[in-house]
Amino acid sequence: MTAQIIDGKSYAEGLRGRIAGHVARLKAEHGITPGLAVVIVGHDPASQIYVSNKARQTVEVGMYSEKYELPDTAPEAEVLALIEKLNADPKIHGILVQLPLPRQVDPNKVIATISPDKDVDCFTPASVGKVQIGLPGPVACTPLGCLMLLRDFVGDLAGKHAVIVGRSNLVGKPMAQLLLRENCTVTVAHSRTVDLPGVVRGADIVVAAVGRPLMIKGDWIKPGAAVIDVGINRIAAPEKGEGKTRTVGDVDFAAAKDVAGWITPVPGGVGPMTIACLLANTVTTASLINGLAPPSDLTP
Ligand code: GUN
Repeated sequence: MTAQIIDGKSYAEGLRGRIAGHVARLKAEHGITPGLAVVIVGHDPASQIYVSNKARQTVEVGMYSEKYELPDTAPEAEVLALIEKLNADPKIHGILVQLPLPRQVDPNKVIATISPDKDVDCFTPASVGKVQIGLPGPVACTPLGCLMLLRDFVGDLAGKHAVIVGRSNLVGKPMAQLLLRENCTVTVAHSRTVDLPGVVRGADIVVAAVGRPLMIKGDWIKPGAAVIDVGINRIAAPEKGEGKTRTVGDVDFAAAKDVAGWITPVPGGVGPMTIACLLANTVTTASLINGLAPPSDLTP
């Protein structure tokens, strides 16, 4: 079998188009322009690129964007004061503080200060709890993107055995909640799981989110399974020249694509979905803050 390639870049483009339509309607019918503030502390080059992309795409879908760049020496109190200001600003419906933060700034304190109403990352305990019990609100961006792709390509997920490899708060745990809500049977595997290859072989859906390059082998995949690779890893690529690198996922794509039914490539699979889902969450929070039901195609 040769898997159908799940083109996340193209799906994300379509999603951004739908988001632009919702933003235009919110403006025309309710006078609401969804606003997203992104905050970066320090000069980590990868974070700078992410934050610039987030701010650019926010404007491209017609939303209001604010970007705050604080020096890497910024005291914790300054970061918390900025979040309090954004919590109180009616133009802002979403607040994203880019992680990681410099050592003097405690990420838990930062997250605890973000108003759950504006928590477009879905990091606060209140937002996480809402996802667990199925109340409307933002949903962790990467798992939301994975779910949208699975629903679109695979269809009804009910009854399928989903194995999530990785138990992070960012991806593994929220992914488990979302797939449970789809009536999957969910297994969360991790570094202490016994016989990981055997566990993955039982999966109709594999979500790989461990951050270990090419860890999941082709012969771990059940024929016809859907494989969603969240990993983004840089590895040496001597074939491209000395010192060169390439980006690979957590799954050995070259081998798995001959066995799976559907598979996301890296790059171009889950990656492009994350920012699109951040924008979707901003439409969701802007709607809820104003007493409107969020668009049903942007939330699970
Ligand atoms: N750093 C890496 N990924 C993320 C993310 O999804 N949200 C935030 N706030 N920071 C990140």
